[in-house]
Amino acid sequence: MAINSPEGTRDLLPDEAKFWAHFRDTAFGIFARYGYQPIETPLFEQTDLFVRGIGQATDVVSKEMFTAISGENFKRVMEGGTIKAKSRLSLRPEGTAGVVRAVVQHDLVPQGAAPAKLMYAGPMFRAERPQKGRQRMFNQVGIECLGAEDPSVDAEGIIMLMRFYAAIGVPMDATRLLVNSMGCEQCRPKYREAVREYMNAHAEHMCEECMRRAEINPLRAFDCKNPGCAEVMEGAPKISDYLCDDCREHYQAVKTYLDGAGISYIEDPTLVRGLDYYTRTVFEVQVDQGMGSQNAIGGGGRYDKLAEEVGGRPTPGFGFALGYERCALAIQAAGQAFPSAQHCDIFVACVDDSVRAEAFSLVQACRDAGVTAEMDHQHRSLKSQFKLADKVGSRMVAVLGPDELAAGEVKVRNMSTHHERLVKLDQAKALLAQFGGEPFGGAHASIEDVFAGEE
Ligand code: HAM
Repeated sequence: MAINSPEGTRDLLPDEAKFWAHFRDTAFGIFARYGYQPIETPLFEQTDLFVRGIGQATDVVSKEMFTAISGENFKRVMEGGTIKAKSRLSLRPEGTAGVVRAVVQHDLVPQGAAPAKLMYAGPMFRAERPQKGRQRMFNQVGIECLGAEDPSVDAEGIIMLMRFYAAIGVPMDATRLLVNSMGCEQCRPKYREAVREYMNAHAEHMCEECMRRAEINPLRAFDCKNPGCAEVMEGAPKISDYLCDDCREHYQAVKTYLDGAGISYIEDPTLVRGLDYYTRTVFEVQVDQGMGSQNAIGGGGRYDKLAEEVGGRPTPGFGFALGYERCALAIQAAGQAFPSAQHCDIFVACVDDSVRAEAFSLVQACRDAGVTAEMDHQHRSLKSQFKLADKVGSRMVAVLGPDELAAGEVKVRNMSTHHERLVKLDQAKALLAQFGGEPFGGAHASIEDVFAGEE
């Protein structure tokens, strides 16, 4: 039986793989204007990093992590042995913990330094129940800014995210930005306590899972999909009534910056997000069109205590991540198809096998000059070579036959106008050599100039 890709994973076939590269490059291009620089961190980290950073009680850590284990340790565990804490590894479920670990490890924000502005893109792994827009391996693009607690950092992050969505084709009229402040270690404990008391008072209408969690993290109940819980939580105390003066001021300043930039948002006092590291600003972007129940295409917030959690000095932070696959669903639902990845400037067709060596050398000369060129590798008939040229989207077909070769010529057909011309092979090769790997540079406007012969 054939082996398929694992459940919850997707192959990005060439058209989509090319779109993903464009998506990432567009994001990086926009984020670079705001001073962000790329960073790459490992796809797996010590499990402890995620436990300490994201939180033991979160779904992501308690239920959804993929454990990575080396061959030797696997054997040890199977034989009933134990492995050292630092050998306990997990595939990264998100990018923030790894980036903050790298910032601390390499001291990227020394005391008094300007903030480190970092961006990343790549796969994340969560063992969730797969459904539309929810995968076990998915791609994120994200940013993290460490070293500044000013609300201007939060606001410029949200603004650049919204600018990116618009630039990549997410339908902005079907998109909602939700914002909230989760307070800080001064004001949140009182709020958490108030929510816990409220839940205990309504325990009979709430699910067991929420009530079990009530002790450790009652705020998670705001995300429960159970209709009974949702109804009860609608009446729960609001964080806005509990924020301390500093948090209230910070939140107000973020909103003022967003207003100034003309960004519309909805304040949602029940937005708590599923990761434990957030303090103050949290936000999420949702789209309705083309999505199932997984409608969050991005989200993030401030995490002023995370660097300390992973062993660094106090370093405020802010960041977000967006899910590529969910954005792609929204973009496609808005009627945008992935542009075809196929591109070919010239297809060199052989009339018979006696000219294959010459065709091979012409194709190579084109590629060395920076031109996309292709030929047949399966000894097809001339007719089916033309079909193939059409399929790969070739703009021109050069036909080489024994007669043309004897005359030192090649017949070139423009595939859109169907005009044919005879081109001197030596002359074409000499012009290609002048390209010197810089396609269409210098005096030549296009590949058509190289193969401009008599019609
Ligand atoms: P998150 O909300 O867990 O935040 O994930 C960000 C985005 O990744 C989501 O809005 C969604 O688009 C996408 N995503 C999450 N899980 C899946 C999945 N199973 N399948 C497909 N897409 C998914 C974070 O990851 C934080 N690290 C964001 C952040 C950065 N906060 C501060 N800095």
